[in-house]
Amino acid sequence: MGKIAIYPGSFDPITYGHIDIIERATKVFDKVVVAVAYDSGKDSLFSVEERKSFIEKVDWPKGANIEVDAFQGLLVEYVLKKKGNVVVRGLRALSDFEYEFQMALINRKLSEKVETMFLMAGENFSYLSSRTMKEIISLGGSAEAFVPKHVEEALRKKLRK
Ligand code: PNS
Repeated sequence: MGKIAIYPGSFDPITYGHIDIIERATKVFDKVVVAVAYDSGKDSLFSVEERKSFIEKVDWPKGANIEVDAFQGLLVEYVLKKKGNVVVRGLRALSDFEYEFQMALINRKLSEKVETMFLMAGENFSYLSSRTMKEIISLGGSAEAFVPKHVEEALRKKLRK
């Protein structure tokens, strides 16, 4: 059976940084499930359905085996239900490490069956975050270099009154 990676996150909204990690993961695993979390502990700008549809509309490389899904509740339970082998998370900089390390260890305590693997974001993407995208757009800037066109349009619609 093929190896399935689960890539969970808020994706509020998806950026080229996330897309870079997903494309890297498709080269290592047979299938990548991009899982939008209902329970991320953050207030989100977009609904889970909106966030899912932004990911679905990305121009993914031909043949890339990517499923877009949403999950509620604990990540480890979702991973086991999906018969996933590992959780993939992206690391941009050292500042991500503490939070990611804590999350990976908590998930390991919750289930010994779930491994976490980290992929390093490409250096062009290491400074991107969904939070800064919202700030740029709400202050009238362009996020063209950071998010796909349909995502930039959705951000503009939502944030520029
Ligand atoms: O993109 P984010 O916001 O860094 O993703 C965080 C996410 C969604 C992966 C994390 O909050 C999560 O796994 N939420 C599901 C609930 C859960 O399992 N919590 C316990 C692990 S910390």
